[in-house]
Amino acid sequence: MAFAYTEKVMDHFINPRNVGEIDNPDGVGEVGNAKCGDIMKVFLRVEEGILTDVKFKTFGCASAIATSSMATEMIKGKPIAEALALTNKAVAEALDGLPPVKMHCSVLAEDAVKMAIKNYYDTHGINYDAALFAGLEEEDDHGDLIMED
Ligand code: FES
Repeated sequence: MAFAYTEKVMDHFINPRNVGEIDNPDGVGEVGNAKCGDIMKVFLRVEEGILTDVKFKTFGCASAIATSSMATEMIKGKPIAEALALTNKAVAEALDGLPPVKMHCSVLAEDAVKMAIKNYYDTHGINYDAALFAGLEEEDDHGDLIMED
């Protein structure tokens, strides 16, 4: 099935930014969509509360890759609090929109970023409000979410 993708989606799909891994990352988050089988992994470098580097690896559709790329661009260099406030809708809007049937793909990007921040908090003994990550590890209509130990 062909979708009408915006130029920005095509650009970030064909030339994705921030692809790769970070050695010894401060936080890692991995999520998957059980229905389509796509997987997204986000790596964070955190220095004094700022995301100084963000990388991703996505095994997924064009929308998943484009939203991963845009999401990492939007949070790189930003404080953690700003990254936590990132929504899949904001990522989709920054790409000038996604076809409605592909909006669920952008949820992976939001959730992978949140998982990586949660992992950073958990592995660095930082206390946080569990409500920030409510629902991340439960199955919802986007599929199963998974997280690395
Ligand atoms: Fe699986 Fe897009 S179809 S994330």
